[in-house]
Amino acid sequence: MQYDIRCTINVNDSIIEHIPVLAERLAEQINLPLDGVMVDATIGQGGHSLLFGKTLGPKGVIVGLDVDKTAIQRARFVLKDLTCKVILHTCNFSQITEYVHKQGIEKADFILADLGLCSAQLADVEMGLSFKTNMPLDMRIDKRLKTTAADIVNRADEKSLADLIYRFGQDRASRRIARFIVQQRRREPIITTGQLAAIVCKALQRPAQKRKSRIHPATRTFQALRIAVNNELDNTKKLLESVPVLLNKNGYVAVVSYHSLEDRLVKNDFKQNEKDNIYKIITKKPIVPARDEIARNRRARSAKLRIAQKQ
Ligand SMILES: C[S@@+](CC[C@H](N)C(=O)[O-])C[C@H]1O[C@@H](n2cnc3c(N)ncnc32)[C@H](O)[C@@H]1O
Repeated sequence: MQYDIRCTINVNDSIIEHIPVLAERLAEQINLPLDGVMVDATIGQGGHSLLFGKTLGPKGVIVGLDVDKTAIQRARFVLKDLTCKVILHTCNFSQITEYVHKQGIEKADFILADLGLCSAQLADVEMGLSFKTNMPLDMRIDKRLKTTAADIVNRADEKSLADLIYRFGQDRASRRIARFIVQQRRREPIITTGQLAAIVCKALQRPAQKRKSRIHPATRTFQALRIAVNNELDNTKKLLESVPVLLNKNGYVAVVSYHSLEDRLVKNDFKQNEKDNIYKIITKKPIVPARDEIARNRRARSAKLRIAQKQ
C-alpha cells in the first residue's frame, strides 16, 4: 500500500501541502473487507479516505462528512478515481447517525475522526484562524454558525473571557490576557487575528517569535476561542456517543486528537465502553507520530491516535 499520500492545495494563491496524519500507523492496524463501509467523520482533504478507499472494491462504501463545504469539494476531487462508492456531505459529525441512516446504511466497519483543522483551513483568510497571518477574526469552520471569535472577544465580560481562555486554552495567564483584551477593546474593536495576537503577546510580555521551536504566545488563546466558536468538545462528545450504535461487531473506531481536552474525552469514552463490554481498546497507550513524520509534517507533532474495536 502507498502510505505517503501528499496533496497540494491552492489556498488564497498559496500552495499548501497536505499529508494525512499517522496514516501509516492507521493502515497497519485496520484492515477493511473489500465490501466494507468506512465513515470518515472529518473528510478534510480526503487524505485518509483515499488511503482506505484504495483497499475497497466496487461494493465498498465511503461516507465522508465535514462542516466545511470547501473541504467537501476538495475531497470530492481527491476521491474521484476510487472504484468504491463515495458519498460526501456537508454535515456536523454530531449528526453522524441521522445522516448515515438516511443513506440506507445501518452499520459501518470503520469510523474515523481526525479532529481539528487542516493546514488549508489555517491558511484560508475566510476562516480567520491564524495568528501568523493577519486576517479577519472569525474562526467559524462552519459558516452557518452565528457567533464569530470577534463577537466573543468584543462582547464577553472580562470574567467570562478569562474563564473561557483558562478552560479551553489551559492558559494560566488567562486573567491577565482577558484584562488586556478588555482594555484594548475600549480603544477600538478587535477585528483581526493580528490585533488579538499582539494583545496576547503584550499581556504575556513575550514577543511573537523568540525561539523558533517555542509555541507562539497566542496559541492557547486562539485554541480556546476556536473550541468555543465551533462548540468542539460538545460535538466530539456527541460523536463518541453515536459510534457504538453505528459500528458493526468487530468494527473499528479511530480518533486522532490534537490537544489534551479532546484526547481526554476519547480516552474516557473508550475506557467506559470497555468496562461495559462494548469496546476492546486496541491502543493501550495512544499512538504518536515518530520523529521523521513530525519532520515531514509539523502539524502531526501534537497528534494522538486511539483505536477501539466493537465487541
Ligand atoms: C484534520 S482535518 C481532517 C483531514 C483528513 N483526515 C485528511 O486526511 O484529509 C479535520 C477536518 O474536520 C473537520 N471538522 C471539524 N469539526 C467537525 C465537525 N464537528 N463535524 C464535521 N467535520 C468537522 C474540519 O473542517 C476539517 O476539515
